[in-house]
Amino acid sequence: MIVLGIETSCDETAAAVCEDGKLLSSVVASQEDHAKYGGVVPEVASRMHEKLLMGTVETALSRASVTKKNLHGIAVTRGPGLMGALLTGISFSRGLALGLKIPFLGLNHMEAHIFANFITFPELEFPFICLLVSGGHTQIWKVGGLGNYDLMGETRDDAAGEAFDKGARILGLGYPGGIEIERAARGGDSNAINFPRAFSKTDSIEFSFSGLKTSLLRYVENLGGEVPGDQISDVAASYQSAIVDSLLSKLRLAIDKTGIETALIGGGVAANRKLRERASNLFPDCKILYPDIDLCTDNAAMVAFLGEIYLREGKSSINSHCVVPNLRLSD
Ligand code: KG4
Ligand code: ZN
Repeated sequence: MIVLGIETSCDETAAAVCEDGKLLSSVVASQEDHAKYGGVVPEVASRMHEKLLMGTVETALSRASVTKKNLHGIAVTRGPGLMGALLTGISFSRGLALGLKIPFLGLNHMEAHIFANFITFPELEFPFICLLVSGGHTQIWKVGGLGNYDLMGETRDDAAGEAFDKGARILGLGYPGGIEIERAARGGDSNAINFPRAFSKTDSIEFSFSGLKTSLLRYVENLGGEVPGDQISDVAASYQSAIVDSLLSKLRLAIDKTGIETALIGGGVAANRKLRERASNLFPDCKILYPDIDLCTDNAAMVAFLGEIYLREGKSSINSHCVVPNLRLSD
């Protein structure tokens, strides 16, 4: 079965082709226009998707050496994400599928982030724990199988990716913040500043990053509004460390509470090398997996891959045509 995947939930316009669980192509057109605003501007994102979608799909098809006529189905993200951005992807995909008379399926973006791990590790087996960390989500799920997801805990306020993005803005670094903080932190001392780790003394699985962000803001204000160049790497490394510690201490709890010793990390923040490195070192007794870097941040490969799984099960429901900006994984 050959499936085209389309992803337009935020600021990446992406298309990919998957055949029998194997990725044939994956194209991501990042929208550079948002960097100058220091964050994603929803209206700009929708317009850019509109402009980039056709070319991105054509490139994905040609790199996969398939034509539209070879496609057996189309899968697209229907939520969560920005309303206008999601609508461009859904409308485009529905039109294409209707014209080709093939099934069309709307998917949950966060579920696709979980399943991105199967592209990197085809032998992966259920059950497992999944730490989902992106720009809008920080959650720990117990995953028993396809469609069998139990939420173990999540953030009370900001998501981990949001903490990176806001922290980068406070430090005068670029957008997206995660990669900028990671870069700035290189060579820095992660113990230089003791930033807070919320809920570190509780045995509940929950996160909070808004206090951490405020703490960084106060720290920078006390320095007169700007961190001297020779201190930036220490500040960035300490801030990154506080986020990584918070995430991993709760992942440990989830593993201990369930006894499940396979844990995956998914979503844009899973691209963070410090998080990957520390997770592997901290849990020598467990199998800790994360997708290849380019499958962590938004992409359509994960959408095509998950779409093929559902289409094989004969799923392409009428509801899946609706865009749901705040779609939950357990909906
Ligand atoms: O999954 P994703 O690409 O989009 C959403 O679904 O939100 O995640 C985007 C988030 C952004 O907040 C970005 O700063 C963060 O992932 N991110 C990173 C890294 N690369 C992207 N955070 C930490 N380290 C990175 N290397
Ligand atoms: Zn994402």
